[in-house]
Amino acid sequence: MEIQMTRTSAPKAKPEDESKLAFGKIFTDHMLMIEYDEGRGWHDARVVPYGPLSLDPACSVLHYGQEIFEGLKCYRTAQGRFQLFRPRDNFERMNRSAQRMGMAPIDVELCMKGLLALLDADKDWTPHSEGTSLYIRPTMIAVDPFLGVAASSKYLFYIILSPSGAYYASGLAPVGIYVEDQMVRAVRGGVGFAKTGGNYAASIVAGAQAKHKGYAQVLWLDGVHQRFIEEVGAMNMMFVYNGKEIVTPELNGSILPGITRDSVMKLAQLMGYTVCERQMAIDEVIADARSGRITEAFGTGTAAVVSPVNTICYKEEEVRLGDGGIGTITLKLYQQLTDIQLGRAEDPFGWTLQL
Ligand code: PLP
Ligand code: COI
Repeated sequence: MEIQMTRTSAPKAKPEDESKLAFGKIFTDHMLMIEYDEGRGWHDARVVPYGPLSLDPACSVLHYGQEIFEGLKCYRTAQGRFQLFRPRDNFERMNRSAQRMGMAPIDVELCMKGLLALLDADKDWTPHSEGTSLYIRPTMIAVDPFLGVAASSKYLFYIILSPSGAYYASGLAPVGIYVEDQMVRAVRGGVGFAKTGGNYAASIVAGAQAKHKGYAQVLWLDGVHQRFIEEVGAMNMMFVYNGKEIVTPELNGSILPGITRDSVMKLAQLMGYTVCERQMAIDEVIADARSGRITEAFGTGTAAVVSPVNTICYKEEEVRLGDGGIGTITLKLYQQLTDIQLGRAEDPFGWTLQL
């Protein structure tokens, strides 16, 4: 399928002061759109000027939340080129989300072709400064104008781009997390592993309460026992034991299989650390933080990269993780990962795609 290109006649001014770039607030000049109709498949792939969508108010997405999305980044490399990090993994995960949400799968190579056409128009929006990137947001919505609860016969896939700074206003400074012991985010058999809007909608009240108490994000517990650690709002969690072993909750169907999680586990192993995926009970984590067995903790995510976590609050009691600063292993992993993403270090796993 060819990608049609309509360039904007009114290009916007690019942000001048990159030090003020927040996350996901500014959008580029163009977007990619591909439509799906049952019986016809995906069609009409096009890059068009960025702008509002026109949707029938009866669209399924607006009533029943049949929506999925992804998040990846385009980086400016040390050599002045542009590169993507594991982009096919995002589109493959999007298809796993699509399957769970009863939505139409989309060919990964079509997504790649569309993304590259969009970047051909807008990659110059990728900011230059350390810690910034062009955040890429692929999205799929159900656009059947039908109020019955059933799979839609029409979908819209689109990609928008946002020149972004750090996800947390604090940048690489350590953040505190609040363990939510009343509300749950997902349960086994539900849609926790899918990147679908409802998971995030369900997290907003708890997130606001945690912020009000002074914590950057919520750490979710499992929805059955409310005992095992799942993940944080926008990242997977890792705990360093005794300065040498990295432990992370296993993938159980209710947490997002993070691409950064997988990358960091592989890099850590290559660097000689032991990595263990297992169930982690919150009482065990609190006891291990108190006794000092946990020497560092951090979250991983595309937006969050590798974010040090220095405090955890459970049942209104705050416990420090490690020495309160940025852990040595956390920093090493942050550096190794971002060096690969920015083309400053060799890419031993072939993760990057140069444009
Ligand atoms: N968990 C949740 C709930 C997320 O939203 C994200 C962000 O995408 C992650 C984990 C990390 O996933 P990834 O590393 O693929 O960005
Ligand atoms: C990402 O890291 O790409 C995400 O999707 C996190 C988002 C919920 C802000």
